[in-house]
Amino acid sequence: MRIDILTLFPQMFQGVFDTGIFQRAVADKLVSVNLYNIRDYTHDKHRTVDDYPYGGGAGMVLKPEPIFEAVESIRPGPHPESGGPPVILMTPQGRLFSQKLAAEFARQERLILICGHYEGVDERIRQHLVTDEISIGDYVLSGGELAAMVVIDAVVRLLPGVLGSEASALDDSHVSGLLEYPQYTRPEVYRGWLVPQVLLSGNHAQIARWRREQAIIRTRERRPDLLAKANLSPGVNPLPESPLEPTTSAEEIEESNNH
Ligand SMILES: C[S@@+](CC[C@H](N)C(=O)[O-])C[C@H]1O[C@@H](n2cnc3c(N)ncnc32)[C@H](O)[C@@H]1O
Repeated sequence: MRIDILTLFPQMFQGVFDTGIFQRAVADKLVSVNLYNIRDYTHDKHRTVDDYPYGGGAGMVLKPEPIFEAVESIRPGPHPESGGPPVILMTPQGRLFSQKLAAEFARQERLILICGHYEGVDERIRQHLVTDEISIGDYVLSGGELAAMVVIDAVVRLLPGVLGSEASALDDSHVSGLLEYPQYTRPEVYRGWLVPQVLLSGNHAQIARWRREQAIIRTRERRPDLLAKANLSPGVNPLPESPLEPTTSAEEIEESNNH
């Protein structure tokens, strides 16, 4: 996958690209990322990217010319409507980003992301250049860079070969519509708090059932809205067929962990 990012602050991305799975994905050529400074597409000597809003009011608005020129120069292919890559504007007014959208974007060969700043971008960019408007939540950031990082992180970890174990992404919260089950690692007893016995049993079928049960309990407790929408039909997120023997309930674990 190729990801192109238009930003006024390319340096903000360095930490993300130089670390962890992202760095490995780039090294393994599973993804390539190109940063474009919107200022490089200006033509005046002050390299002006913003201007006062028509009609008055506080703040500055990003001008259309540099952003149109940047996208058109890096997208020699067809307009998205005729099969070109999606052009995604980061904006608090966009569709709420989700795991489902991350999976949709991960199927694209290429993404172009535009990071706004100040009061946002000239409306004509939204009307005539972008194909998607994405928000990462109902709050306002000072720029689209952090939002773009959230989106590309969620997308890149879904690309085949990026995560060490493909299976680990399948159990992640939100992938199947449920929150993930509780996770434990060594030591077996920490400050008197125990790891649930079933996880030490070596019985993979029981462990799978316990995890599914815990995922459902946890989702019901924390996000009943998700449980109402989750597909619990057989083979997708089946409910445990029979109670686990011996079982450790969420309440018992809470109880053990609270002591
Ligand atoms: C201060 S915000 C502008 C907000 C704009 N005046 C409004 O009310 O819709 C500046 C930029 O940050 C980015 N941004 C802010 N909040 C965001 C969010 N929740 N999701 C995605 N991008 C966001 C956008 O790129 C936006 O153009």
